[in-house]
This record gives sequence, structure tokens and C-alpha cells, in this order.
Amino acid sequence: MVPSPTAPAACLLHFDDERAAAQRLAQASGLPALEIARHRFPDGELKLTLPVDASGLLPERAVLLRSLHQPNDKLIELLLAARAARGLGVQHLTLVAPYLAYMRQDIAFHPGEAVSQRIVGPFLASLFDAVVTVDPHLHRVATLHEAVPAAHTVVLSGAPLLADWIVQQRPGALLVGPDGESAQWVAQAAARHGLDHAVCTKERHGDRSVTIQLPPVNVQGRAVVLLDDMASTGHTLAQATRLLLAAGAASVDVAVTHALIDVDALAALHAAGVEQFWSTDCVAHPTNTVLMETELARGVQQVFSVSGL
Ligand code: R5P
Repeated sequence: MVPSPTAPAACLLHFDDERAAAQRLAQASGLPALEIARHRFPDGELKLTLPVDASGLLPERAVLLRSLHQPNDKLIELLLAARAARGLGVQHLTLVAPYLAYMRQDIAFHPGEAVSQRIVGPFLASLFDAVVTVDPHLHRVATLHEAVPAAHTVVLSGAPLLADWIVQQRPGALLVGPDGESAQWVAQAAARHGLDHAVCTKERHGDRSVTIQLPPVNVQGRAVVLLDDMASTGHTLAQATRLLLAAGAASVDVAVTHALIDVDALAALHAAGVEQFWSTDCVAHPTNTVLMETELARGVQQVFSVSGL
């Protein structure tokens, strides 16, 4: 079969549960959004139907949008969708995963543990020519390419746009990172608007148990915004909030790129003293205030340029 002469040269593939984000990215990137249909069989298996044209083909270039929170089923979707797309004419396939899962388990903390990052990263690289993501949790590796060895990788950050939002809401805020890993995002956001900033130290004892030490800065009377890549159980941010308020902070708000937090944990954060909780739309969440489609479109454009497309 040959592609119809009117077929687009590239498209944006997505699933129904990310239709709104896909439409925003389609608008920003100029790529037509095409939806992959899912059917779940009674035994739990999935059937995908890709949106082929009248000739039964997809465009030669495709971008697949899939944010990978609650990732386990989605990894199977990616496997099925990517392999099917290759058989339907796609020659260059980019994954846009605004949230990239399984990056935190980057060493075996105990004998016998699977190092998920070193398994999931190469798995994605085996499916996609390029991967675009936002603030991936890279702790002990220097670049995304080390974790996901695809031909091209693009790392974007939510920190600049979160910083723009923060200065509108809390002019002159003191930006605080809850742990050493957040220093990169806090420094970037603070530099953009000349804000004061500092970083706590954190020791993790378990999934829901952390000890935090405040940095040696005077927070008395300051509007503090805690900035981090993600909130999951919320314990890190709750603990930091309690310490900051006890040290005299006038207010504590939170801004994160990836809101993985559920409603109960969010309520517990507010109970700990957090006033406002802001997030980017990398993970769809009721707290989304910062939209990333322009940045994501820039990432896709970067992939197309370096790939000579
Ligand atoms: C870890 O270093 C991350 O940046 C976050 O601080 C952490 O994942 C948050 O986890 P939780 O919300 O469960 O404390």
C-alpha cells in the first residue's frame, strides 16, 4: 500500500485519557493529533487500533504522547503501539513522556534488587528513536542518554515556567528545595527572577519516612515556596513545611513539575500548613497551573532538527 498524496508527513499519536494535553501539543507543534483506540478484553489484555489513513498506513514520522505516571499498563501500551506503528509505515518515532517513570531506582540498594532505570530506559530506547521528557529524576547518572540510550534524548524543565508563576503569585518569595537533588531546579528558577534560594538536606528511611534539616538561612517572616521535581506521598514536602513554619516562615506554598500525589496526601499537605499547591500539566492533576505544551513542542522540534527531518 502507498500513502495517500494528502497524508500528513507527521502526526501526534495519543490515547483518549490524554486527549486534552494532546490537543494542546498538537496546536503548539502543528502536528495533527490522532487517537489510538484501546479495547480491554475481559482477561485484562489490551487491543490497540492505530489511526491509519485510507491506505492503512501512518505518516512516516510519528510522535507518541504518553506521560508515564501509574506506568505499568502504559509500558505495555507503548510496546504494542510502537511495534505496531513500525509495521504501519512509521520510520521515525518519538516518545514525548512529560513524566518519565522508573528513573528513581538507579542502583541496587539491597542485594537482588532489580535496577529499574537500567531496564526500563533501554526498553524505551529499543522502541523509540527519540525521547523527550521534563525534569527526569536523574540522581546518579549525568545525562538522560545514559539512562535511556535512544538516538536522541531531549530534557526540558518545568522550573522556568514554575518560576514565572511563583513570582506572579508571591513576589519576592524565598525558594527552598527540600533536598539536595532539588538544588538544580531551585537554582535555575531563582536565577531567572533574582530570588533568594536555599536547599534542605534530607535523609530517607522508607517510602513514607524522611528526616529533613533546614538550611542555615533566616526564614522569619518570609513567604517560602518549596520547589521540587515531584510530590509523591507528600511526606518530603509536609516535613519541610512543618519545619519552615516552626522556624517563623510567614507562609509556605509548593510548586512541583510532577504532581503524582493523590487527594488524601494533598489534604495532608494542606493540614501540615501548605497554602497553595501548584504543578505543571506534565501529570494531569487538579493542581495544574502551568501548561507545558510550548516547551514540549520545542522539544519535538529539536528532535526533528537533529534528526534532519
Ligand atoms: C526525591 O528526591 C524527589 O525529588 C522527591 O523529593 C521525592 O520523590 C518526593 O517523594 P515523597 O513525596 O513521597 O516524599
